[in-house]
Amino acid sequence: MPAPHMPIERGPRIGTNLLRQSRTQFKKSRVCLTRSSLIWFLLAQLLAWSTFAAAADTQHEQIVAEKVESLVARMTLTEKIGQLNLISQGEPVEEQLASVRAGRVGAMLNVVDPAIIDRYREAASQSRLKIPLLFGLDAVDVFRIAFPPPIAWAATFRPELAEAASRSVAGETAAIGVNWTFAPMVDISRDPRWGRVVEGAGEDPYLGSVMAAARVRGYLAGGLMPTAKHFVGYGAGESGRDYNGALIPTSDLYDRYLPPFQAAFNAGAQTVMGALNAINGVPATANAFLMYRVLRRDMGFKGFVTSDYNAIGELINHGLAADLAAASRLALKAGIDLDMEGYGYDRHLAAELAASRVTQIQIDHAVARILTVKFNMGLFDEWSRKTAPPEAETRKIARQIARESFVLLKNDNTVLPIATGVKTIALIGDAAKTDFDESWYGPAGLTQPATQTLYDAMKERLAPGQSIVYEPAFADRCGKSLADDAAAVRAAERADVIVLIVTEDCEFSGEGTSRANLDLSTAQQTVLDRLSATGKPLVLVVTAGRPLTLTAAAAKAQAILYAWLPRTEGRAALAEILTGEVNPSGKLPMSLPRSVGQIPISYDVLPTSRPPTESRYTSRYLDENVTPLYPFGFGLSYTTFEYTKLRPQSVVLDLAGSMFIDVDVTNTGSRSGQEVVQLYVRRPVASRSRPIRELKGFQKIALRPGETRTVRFDLHGRALAFHDDEGKRVEEPGPVQIFVGGSSQATLSADLVMK
Ligand code: NOJ
Repeated sequence: MPAPHMPIERGPRIGTNLLRQSRTQFKKSRVCLTRSSLIWFLLAQLLAWSTFAAAADTQHEQIVAEKVESLVARMTLTEKIGQLNLISQGEPVEEQLASVRAGRVGAMLNVVDPAIIDRYREAASQSRLKIPLLFGLDAVDVFRIAFPPPIAWAATFRPELAEAASRSVAGETAAIGVNWTFAPMVDISRDPRWGRVVEGAGEDPYLGSVMAAARVRGYLAGGLMPTAKHFVGYGAGESGRDYNGALIPTSDLYDRYLPPFQAAFNAGAQTVMGALNAINGVPATANAFLMYRVLRRDMGFKGFVTSDYNAIGELINHGLAADLAAASRLALKAGIDLDMEGYGYDRHLAAELAASRVTQIQIDHAVARILTVKFNMGLFDEWSRKTAPPEAETRKIARQIARESFVLLKNDNTVLPIATGVKTIALIGDAAKTDFDESWYGPAGLTQPATQTLYDAMKERLAPGQSIVYEPAFADRCGKSLADDAAAVRAAERADVIVLIVTEDCEFSGEGTSRANLDLSTAQQTVLDRLSATGKPLVLVVTAGRPLTLTAAAAKAQAILYAWLPRTEGRAALAEILTGEVNPSGKLPMSLPRSVGQIPISYDVLPTSRPPTESRYTSRYLDENVTPLYPFGFGLSYTTFEYTKLRPQSVVLDLAGSMFIDVDVTNTGSRSGQEVVQLYVRRPVASRSRPIRELKGFQKIALRPGETRTVRFDLHGRALAFHDDEGKRVEEPGPVQIFVGGSSQATLSADLVMK
C-alpha cells in the first residue's frame, strides 16, 4: 500500500529561454499588491522559476519540456490564452467550433455525444498549431453502468475494487472520446451534513490516501487523466454547508487534508481542481500560498491546476475582486492555470497583460503546464477510438463492490440472514420496486442499463415454501410522504420477518445537498415505528449517500444494513446479503453520529484535558453521549472473528526504519466470511497532542469457519510523523501504542518505543 507521505520531486524543465524570459518579465512587471499578497506573489514567481528551471528528472520529462518550450515559442497571445480556456459544450456549436479552430479554446467540458466530440477534435486539428483539446467530464462512478458511489468503495476497504471500478467507469467514458475526468474527489470530511461525502472516502486520511491512489490508477488504466479535487479543504466547510469557508490549522492541513492529494499525485494524477470555498479566509482560487508553497513546493506537484466551475468569477462573491478582470488577474497570479467556464481569462487576460497587471511569464507558465500534461497524456499522438470494457465485466465489478460495501450495523437475534425456514417476508418500502439509479453525475441522454429491483431479486432467491408480500408504504420512492401505511402494517402482521427499505431523499446526495437534519424522514420513521409495534423481527435497509443519524431507528429495528446507494447491480447484491448467499463485510469509512449536535465527528480526535466521565466538569454533553452510534471501521458479519497473539517484532521502532506486527485472526463462527483487520497507533506523549487513534494499515482477509490466519503489518517509523504549525514534518522519539482489531475501537494493544 502506498505511504501517504512521499518524497517531494522536482518539477520539469522547459528550458533556459523561458527562464531568462521569466526573469526579465519579473523585473518589468508593475503590479499593485497588498503587502501580504506581495510576499506570496514573490514566492510564486520564485517557485515558478525554480519549477521550470530545474533539471528534468527523466529523459521523458526532458523531451516533453523541449517540445513544450518550442510550442510555446510559436504561439500567439490569443493561442496561449486559448489554452487556458475551458468551456462547456453549448449552442451554437458552429460558433464554438470556430473558436476552437482559432485556437481560443484549450479544453471542453460535458461533451458526451461521440459524434460531437469528433467535430471538436477535428476543429482543433484544423487550428494553426493543431493543439489537441482536453475533453473533461465528471466520470466518477457512473457512465452507463451505475456503480455504488465512492463512499461505498471506501467501505469495502479493498483498494483493488476501487481501482477496478474506476477503470471500468473510465473505460466506458474514454470510449466516447473523453480523455479527462474530474475525479477522484479526495476531500477528507468529518461532516456528514455535507452532501458530497458521497464522492469521497470518508473521514480518515490513511484510508483516503489508499483509495485516492487506487482510483487514480484505475482512471488512468481506463484511459482518462484523473483530477485530484478539491484543493484543498472543501470537505471542511463550516457547518457542513457546501461552498462554505473552512478554517484549517496548518498542522491539520498537512496531517489530515493533504495526504490523499499526495497519494493521488504519486499514483499519477497530473491535474488538480481548486476548491470553490475559502480556506482560512482566502478562496482557493486566489490562494497563492496553497497553490505555490503547499502544492508545488511542498508536494512537488508538476501538473496543472484547473479552477472549479466559474470559480474565478465567484471571487467577486467572495469579496476579493470587484470585477471579472480583477478576479482573473488574482487567479492567474495564484497559480490557477485553467479557467473552467469562467470566461475571465478569455475576456480579460490580454488587456491585463497590456496594462502590465499580469506578466507574460505568468501566462506562459500556465500554458506550459497545460501543454506538458497534454503531451504526457499522449494527446499529440495519433488518436484512435477505444472500445468500452465488456458490459458483463463491468457489471461483475459493480456487483462485487456492492456486496463488499454494505455495512451490517446491527443484527440482534441473528435476524439476518433470513432463514430458509422463514415462511413469509414482508418487503416494505417503495424503493424495493424501483429500478431507477439516482446519480447526479450520470451523463444525461444515455440509455439506462437493465437492472433488477430488490423485489425481483428477492423473489428469485426465495427458498421452497417461502413467499413475499410487498407494500410500498410511501407515496414516493424517497419516503417523503406516506401511502397506505396501514396496508404495510397488515402485511407485516401476516409475515414472519419484515424488511423495510428506506432511502435518503434521492436528491439528497452530491453537490449542493447539505442537510441540517440527518434523521430518517418523518414518514419513514412513522412507518418504522408502526412496523416495529407489530412485534415481528424487523430488518431496516438504509440506502443513503452519507451517514444518517439512526438513533431512533436503531431503537426499533433488530437488524440494520447500511447499503449506501446500491445502483445497477446493487439491489441484486442486497438480496444476496439479505438471504445469506453473501456474507456482509463492509466497514464504516465515516462515523455514524447519534445526533447532528456531535458533528463534526471522527474517531481520530485529540485527547482532551478532561476525558468524559460521569462528572460534570469533563468534556461531555449533558444530553448526549460523546461516542458515535457506530464508529469508524465498524461492521458486523454473519460470522464472528477473534483477535489473539498481537506480536510486534520488537518493542523498539526505529524512526527511519520499520517493523512487522503480527496478529492472529480466527473465524469463530459457523460460516465463511471476510474481515477487515485494522492497525491503529497512538502517540501518548509527544511534542503536541496526537489523536487518540490513527489508522495506519488494514487488510481484508477471508476465513473459513475455524480457520486462523496470521496477518502481518509493516509499520514504518516515518508513518508516525506529524506536522507543526508551519507545516514542517516532525519525526520524534517517544512512546507508541498500537491497537489491532475489527474497528477503530479495537482493544488488543501493545506498547512500543520510537527511537
Ligand atoms: C462543480 C463541482 O464542484 C466539481 O467537482 C465538478 O467537477 C465541476 N462542477 C464540473 O462539473
